[in-house]
Amino acid sequence: MSNEPRNKNGVSRRDFLGLASIGAVILSSLTLLAGIFRLTKADVHYEESKKFKIGRPEEFPPGTVKKLDDKKVFIFADKDGFHAVSSVCTHLGCIVRASGDGFQCPCHGSKFNKNGKVLAGPAPRNLPWLEVSRHVDGNIVVDASREIKAGTKFKV
Ligand code: FES
Repeated sequence: MSNEPRNKNGVSRRDFLGLASIGAVILSSLTLLAGIFRLTKADVHYEESKKFKIGRPEEFPPGTVKKLDDKKVFIFADKDGFHAVSSVCTHLGCIVRASGDGFQCPCHGSKFNKNGKVLAGPAPRNLPWLEVSRHVDGNIVVDASREIKAGTKFKV
């Protein structure tokens, strides 16, 4: 037994520093293991696809106007084909509503004609037309990530 001074619990400074060192080594080892474990998992973020099927062409007789709330898009079918117009206002992203022969934004009052052209601001741009195509299974597909020239219709 050494002659080192001890506290009232009988632990010397040397013993305390030794225990603290062992604790630090254990803690840093656990942190290192946690980091290695995290590195083995890919840091992947899944995002919902912006390309989606809307149904078969026969479900959209000429004259159909359908709003898909969950996809934020209006689908139109007429004798010239299909087209899709985004329902996301180009001002601050509110969802526009069909209004008369066009669309109106409930947030700040922007108005658009039936082709998505801005009639009254503050929206800075027209509502984008989105690419429409047909899947090999026959369903109509809208790709909300691909903007196309307004007036372009997809003929089935
Ligand atoms: S978000 Fe549509 S007008 Fe402001």
